[in-house]
Amino acid sequence: MEIKKVGVVGCGFMGAGIVQVCAQSGYEVMVVDISEETLNKGIATMEYYLNRDVEKGRMSRHDRDLTRARIKGSVVLEDLHDRDLVIEAVPEDSGLKKKVFARLDRICPQHTILCSNTSCLSVTELARVTGRPDRVIGTHFLSPVPRSKLLEIVRADTTDEETLATVKEFGRSLGKEILVAKDTPGFVFNYLLLALIGAAIRLLENGVASAEDIDRSWTLGMGHPIGPLALADFNGLDVGYMVACAMYDRSKDPHLAPSAILKEMVDCGRLGRKTGEGFYKYKDEK
Ligand SMILES: NC(=O)c1ccc[n+]([C@@H]2O[C@H](COP(=O)([O-])OP(=O)(O)OC[C@H]3O[C@@H](n4cnc5c(N)ncnc54)[C@H](O)[C@@H]3O)[C@@H](O)[C@H]2O)c1
Repeated sequence: MEIKKVGVVGCGFMGAGIVQVCAQSGYEVMVVDISEETLNKGIATMEYYLNRDVEKGRMSRHDRDLTRARIKGSVVLEDLHDRDLVIEAVPEDSGLKKKVFARLDRICPQHTILCSNTSCLSVTELARVTGRPDRVIGTHFLSPVPRSKLLEIVRADTTDEETLATVKEFGRSLGKEILVAKDTPGFVFNYLLLALIGAAIRLLENGVASAEDIDRSWTLGMGHPIGPLALADFNGLDVGYMVACAMYDRSKDPHLAPSAILKEMVDCGRLGRKTGEGFYKYKDEK
């Protein structure tokens, strides 16, 4: 099936990046958010990144203008009635995502493929609230969406071969490398990431080494640009805790159980870089 018109639901951190990448790749994009304020904020952020690409010589002015012209915004979900593929990027809340999928199912034509950008929720459960479970799939983009090389495609238990093939082709057309995962807690990327960060926190909790040395084992030993504890701070400890809880709820896998120290830090507002303190202190942040 040929994809021409793309819809995106949610113009936040991830949605704005997805809109940008789709429009840059030649798709006509309609993005929907709940209010003019949140919609305009997302579009303004995306325009900032497009302009920065022009300033840094990564994109011509002409291509920026063409990209921008392909994007339309709305606060009415019904405006997605003519889309070939819709990507949901609303907050990680199962009830909210199910409501959005049930509404999209009523609004969109039968051929439309419905995708979720969920980090760890069951795509199969989302598929089951629709009348087209064969055409529902996970498209887990990683941040920052325009720079990340990977797209993790999550095949729900109900996704058919044609939908998988179409979405793989769509992902490649966005310049991404494709990884296909089964619909399991955290899929591949977050399962690995949370296991690594969880192990680093346990080492710290058990007093095996300092935060700096635990991170150095990864940066110097494995050649990674950032260690697991610094990465957890960067992503936000509240986000990590929420994803760990959701993965543990789904799997009951003790390796994925969020640690007590992480819960304590979240409860007292030590959320990482964004609050100026997490596993490290950040002078320049709040
Ligand atoms: N932040 C990350 O690094 C990251 C990485 C990969 C995947 N994800 C996943 O992507 C999804 C979105 O995360 P985010 O970080 O962009 O969240 P965000 O909070 O930045 O953006 C969510 C947007 O959805 C809008 N929204 C809320 N309810 C809506 C509705 N009913 N209809 C339309 N819009 C609605 C909000 O106004 C907001 O603009 C989540 O499922 C998250 O788990 C996030």
